[in-house]
Amino acid sequence: MQSPRGKFITLEGGEGVGKSTNLQFVIQWLDSHGVEFVQTREPGGTPLAEQLRELLLQKRAENVDPTAELLMVFAARAQHLREVIVPALESGKWVICDRFTDATYAYQGGGRGLDRALISQLEQTVQKDLRPDKVLLLDLDPEIGLQRAAATGEADRFESEQLSFFRKVREAYRERALAAPERYAIIDAAQPLVDVQQQLAKELTGLLHG
Ligand SMILES: Nc1ncnc2c1ncn2[C@@H]1O[C@H](COP(=O)(O)OP(=O)(O)OP(=O)(O)O)[C@@H](O)[C@H]1O
Ligand SMILES: [Mg+2]
Repeated sequence: MQSPRGKFITLEGGEGVGKSTNLQFVIQWLDSHGVEFVQTREPGGTPLAEQLRELLLQKRAENVDPTAELLMVFAARAQHLREVIVPALESGKWVICDRFTDATYAYQGGGRGLDRALISQLEQTVQKDLRPDKVLLLDLDPEIGLQRAAATGEADRFESEQLSFFRKVREAYRERALAAPERYAIIDAAQPLVDVQQQLAKELTGLLHG
């Protein structure tokens, strides 16, 4: 008997908004509700895609061409979809992913200023009709996010960008979420963690029963 397709949930937001922290909460919630799931992240999630992640995040003397960056992101995503995400969803497992294509619209589109139509073309080519069932967007002033992120280690190539870059990233995320409210939950990540997680639980309950 074929199991129904699993749900695809992504956690999004700028630097230090609490994606990784809240991913732990989400997987505990799924566990305690008997949901089978796969936990993963982007860029990355397979050996090849993790190598591409390294290439993307490394600070380097050479300026990275924004289109080269965009293509590396989608190269990693194609591999990740084929090896991990699609098989899991088809087997009925849920997939919970730390960042996905909304991050590409936010960072490469908003931050780098690349054409959204180009991103959309690549999205269609690489993902076909696959889109997240729910995007949990942790929304936070990037000044606060960067302060939080700074406390957790050395800045990577993205974290070394100017504040103006992260303001554009936040705006691009918000625009996408506001344009499709049924697929996005905008969560105020400046709230204490318990309040963030109460809202996450509400969203998860809706997905499980809806
Ligand atoms: N709601 C919150 N209030 C206060 N601190 C928080 C909150 N959420 C997360 N933090 C703290 O902020 C820091 C960054 O959180 P986390 O690593 O989960 O963010 P992230 O979005 O995964 O960051 P990155 O973009 O660097 O991967 C951690 O020290 C975490 O404990
Ligand atoms: Mg993280």
